[in-house]
Amino acid sequence: MQLLLATHNEHKRREFARLLVGFEVKVLPQDVQLPPEDGETFAENALGKARAAALVTGGVAIADDSGIEAAALGGAPGVRSARYAGEDASDEENLRKLLGEAPAGSGLEYVCAIAYVDPLGGVERVFEERCAGRLAGELRGERGFGYDPAFLPLDGPEGMTMAELSDAQKDAISHRGKAARALEEWLRRSEQALRTG
Ligand code: IMP
Repeated sequence: MQLLLATHNEHKRREFARLLVGFEVKVLPQDVQLPPEDGETFAENALGKARAAALVTGGVAIADDSGIEAAALGGAPGVRSARYAGEDASDEENLRKLLGEAPAGSGLEYVCAIAYVDPLGGVERVFEERCAGRLAGELRGERGFGYDPAFLPLDGPEGMTMAELSDAQKDAISHRGKAARALEEWLRRSEQALRTG
């Protein structure tokens, strides 16, 4: 089954193709514009993008929105994670700002919402999952992206940041991995129900 992912980001497509085993993940044509991520929740942003893609193509679309919540900052940066240090801030600038504001050892949570929109069947679903961790005192690891060098996942190997884990280790515990598996299981159950009537 083909799934259209509402993004222009090839990195995201590859990550989802890895997570959604058995599905062919396609990205939006370059000229299709996506709405701004200005909602108050991850689910709202993911739904907005999936609806926009479904409207343009007339078919099923999925979209995700993700970010990090710091307990010491009342849940910030949350939906503003990608632009925490400013509209065009780099991953490193956002990470430095978080390290400057939240104490080492304090609680963090990665969040990922994946929306599924089928305009013909009139179906909309959102799968939201979390990954709990703590803020590291120093940056470690070369893998991953964003806040990974400072994120010590509670379910990961003791003392290792997300940026030190392999793709497979990260996928097994990450917010995105868990949300993608919830979507995949639901898709397979729905397909099965359709087949058996
Ligand atoms: P978006 O889902 O593309 O809007 O990305 C949101 C932002 O959240 C990213 O730019 C990262 O800063 C952060 N983020 C989301 N998921 C992760 C992750 O798995 N690792 C590190 N940073 C993440």
